[in-house]
Amino acid sequence: MTFGQRIVDLAARLAQWSETSDGLTCTYLTPPHRAVAAELKKWMHDAGMSADIDAVGNVVGRYRSDNPSARTLILGSHYDTVRNAGHYDGRLGILTALVAVEHLHQSGRKLPFNVDVIAFSEEEGVRFSTPYIGSSAMAGQFDTSVLDRSDGEGHRLGDVMRAAGFDPKLIPTLARRPQDLIGYLEVHIEQGPVLLHEDFPVGIVTSIAGSVRQRVSIAGTAGHAGTVPMALRHDAAAAAAEIVLYVERRCAAAPTLVGTVGELRVPGGAINVIPGHCELTIDIRAGDDQTRDAAASDVLAEIKRVAERRGVKVETKEVSRSNNVSCSPRIQRLLAAAIARAGIGVRPLPSGAGHDAMQFKGITELGMLFVRCGNGGISHSPLETVAAADADLAARILLDTIANYEQSA
Ligand code: GLV
Ligand code: MN
Ligand code: MN
Repeated sequence: MTFGQRIVDLAARLAQWSETSDGLTCTYLTPPHRAVAAELKKWMHDAGMSADIDAVGNVVGRYRSDNPSARTLILGSHYDTVRNAGHYDGRLGILTALVAVEHLHQSGRKLPFNVDVIAFSEEEGVRFSTPYIGSSAMAGQFDTSVLDRSDGEGHRLGDVMRAAGFDPKLIPTLARRPQDLIGYLEVHIEQGPVLLHEDFPVGIVTSIAGSVRQRVSIAGTAGHAGTVPMALRHDAAAAAAEIVLYVERRCAAAPTLVGTVGELRVPGGAINVIPGHCELTIDIRAGDDQTRDAAASDVLAEIKRVAERRGVKVETKEVSRSNNVSCSPRIQRLLAAAIARAGIGVRPLPSGAGHDAMQFKGITELGMLFVRCGNGGISHSPLETVAAADADLAARILLDTIANYEQSA
């Protein structure tokens, strides 16, 4: 079987563990999430690695060099998913690294450095509104204040970790030392249409866009849908609607700028009640941090104006912020050389999505290989697809890149 077909099959096997009976949802430290970690640990072990699950649920496989003082190249991506996800966001990178190392092992080939295949436990920020739990811990960037955050059912993150048998006090010990690392390389589905439209099976990521995320809570006045005249209402959902449309309008104003209201709720709402409460999230990104920050501050100013005009109270809370990160020119060159050796054109492109790789900025050199996304480039959706032939090529290019990986001084 080719690497590609094996990756596709393994991704389908992992997708069997889901919080829902139809589709794939696998959020941090739920039973399906724990089951996926246990399975990945087994697979890493079978592929010739030592494998363990660390104090935040990362599955860490090591393919050890024969040199006892060797440094380490990390190949990573995440195994948590968004709600109603596809099979490949995050998992493609783990499985591509897995089959590449398995091949080295089966060929009896060792490298002059250790290769760590890391399946990060959390990247999406779905359950606790805090992304990158796994990779931030490993990069020594974990913000302990998020341990107090609760999920939608009121479970505190710190308590959920302890209930899963993890000790949050150990998180600082997971930080990798820069002097032990020679780089971080992540394979990821593009999650967009560029490679598909231009007919490239893979692409080299030049930079990764950061994001600013807000949770917004609007308190209006609930009332009878039949008795309160329109002019006397303080409708929380109508205020939210104005905010949604402003985010869309403002974020259409610059080429790389994007803004999304991904959650929008009227808790306790009913067909015959004027909404007294509404909650929403805002995610704003751009190719540069200034453009993004200017849009985010205009959105906050507009929220204030809407609140005053409509007589509703609005609370906003910034729940996450990450800045744009450039990929290492040296790793981009190494990837380009491997792609050229595979007889394929080299297509550099920026990433509009966030990735675990960002957490390693300043810790080690980082690079990413994108794989073409099928089906019009749809991701964060069950319609996400990757062709087995493209996954196969990605595994071969990854193998070639690591086999020819030059350790910098
Ligand atoms: C990760 O999927 C992101 O939201 O960029
Ligand atoms: Mn991802
Ligand atoms: Mn994602």
